Amino acid sequence: MDREAIIETHDLTKVYGSQVAVKELFLAVEEGEVFGFLGPNGSGKTTTLLMLLGLTEPTKGWARVAGFDPQREPIQVKRVVGYLPERIGFYEDMTGPENLRFIARLNGIPDSKSAPRIDAALESVGLGDERKKPVGAYSRGMRQRLGIAQILLREPKIAFLDEPTLGLDPEGTQRIIGFIESLNRDKKMTIIISSHDLRQVQKLADRVGIMLEGRMIAAGTMDELARERFGVGDRKISLDDLYMKYFQEIEL
Ligand SMILES: Nc1ncnc2c1ncn2[C@@H]1O[C@H](COP(=O)(O)OP(=O)(O)OP(=O)(O)O)[C@@H](O)[C@H]1O
Ligand SMILES: [Mg+2]
Repeated sequence: MDREAIIETHDLTKVYGSQVAVKELFLAVEEGEVFGFLGPNGSGKTTTLLMLLGLTEPTKGWARVAGFDPQREPIQVKRVVGYLPERIGFYEDMTGPENLRFIARLNGIPDSKSAPRIDAALESVGLGDERKKPVGAYSRGMRQRLGIAQILLREPKIAFLDEPTLGLDPEGTQRIIGFIESLNRDKKMTIIISSHDLRQVQKLADRVGIMLEGRMIAAGTMDELARERFGVGDRKISLDDLYMKYFQEIEL
């Protein structure tokens, strides 16, 4: 590997009762990389992200995020990682800018410094005209945009985006994809993005990992996976084709 792994897991496993959510995951994500996390509903993507953030404890194995152990050093991990969860919680009676100011304060950014950044972040996600509305009156897509604004505001070293464009209109989706691209390109942010939109992932990700029933059944660049499954590396194969082929051929 040319670059250092900024995110690493070793034998990472999570069991809920009799349900194995994540099974013996060995993963390395390099600094500056966009890693696409794929797999059907219930395959363990969100659970993996929660363990990487220190929000849930592994049953077995360990993880390192930017040199920190999420289990023992969750605060340090949260400081370097921006997280867009599946279901974003905000203070419903506060407006978008108020929520962002609150988050900025929690992150030690003084109001004088955060004010222009909040303005810029809201403008860029297209919420500039919604400053007066309490978040309780936001539509789903507006909440999602505010979630992205929160990451733009903090500019963390790493971002975990759990289905960032779910429920967004086409214009919103394009916008968010554009942000993700520029955060990676201009700010060198390392990004793990989970999504069911394979075209989107194909466009954004340097490498992808495919989860199935808690196991990572494939990981690599598109070319590597194409070579593995189709025996060719240079022919243009879509991620849709690859993904379906993995599921047709995999033996559980
Ligand atoms: N808190 C929990 N308690 C019990 N089981 C859980 C819990 N969280 C997740 N699971 C189970 O773990 C498995 C993996 O769930 P997870 O949310 O990680 O999947 P996912 O890949 O993110 O799916 P989706 O694409 O639907 O978001 C599922 O079988 C789920 O029911
Ligand atoms: Mg999920």
